[in-house]
Amino acid sequence: MNEKKVQMLEFQQRGDERGRLVVVEGESDVPFEIKRIFYIYGSDPDVIRGQHANKKTEFVLINVAGRSKVRIKDGKGNEAVFSLNRPHTGIYLPNMVWKDMYDFSGDSVLLCLASEHYDAEEYIRNYEEFEKLANQMK
Ligand code: TYD
Repeated sequence: MNEKKVQMLEFQQRGDERGRLVVVEGESDVPFEIKRIFYIYGSDPDVIRGQHANKKTEFVLINVAGRSKVRIKDGKGNEAVFSLNRPHTGIYLPNMVWKDMYDFSGDSVLLCLASEHYDAEEYIRNYEEFEKLANQMK
């Protein structure tokens, strides 16, 4: 993949009689060097997380257990919802995408791979500000 657009990624399952194993390597299985990982679990089904965009960071989100949904918006009137429900499937989110994560199952563990170290300054948490910036870009 070379285009920076939202897309689902399928990772190879390397299963054998001992169980399953999925490998996610930076710069090959995901299109960036992985500088940070975090995971989200224990969120109630009525909680909405995310609610931000990132000026710089690209992410891949994988529900390694359980299920959740991600709603993404481009700030120009387009939105889409993706279901994350398989440990070998992820979603690639480039920078400058608004994201809401919700509908968490009780057993949801949402693994997030990020292209950058944490920097609160590059998070846009106000939707109007995001819209304005998104519309200034090409
Ligand atoms: P937040 O970005 O609100 O989480 P989510 O996107 O899942 O809704 O982050 C929650 C808190 O954790 C907030 O105080 C910032 C902190 N945090 C870090 O310190 N480092 C990180 O890499 C992340 C993702 C969050």
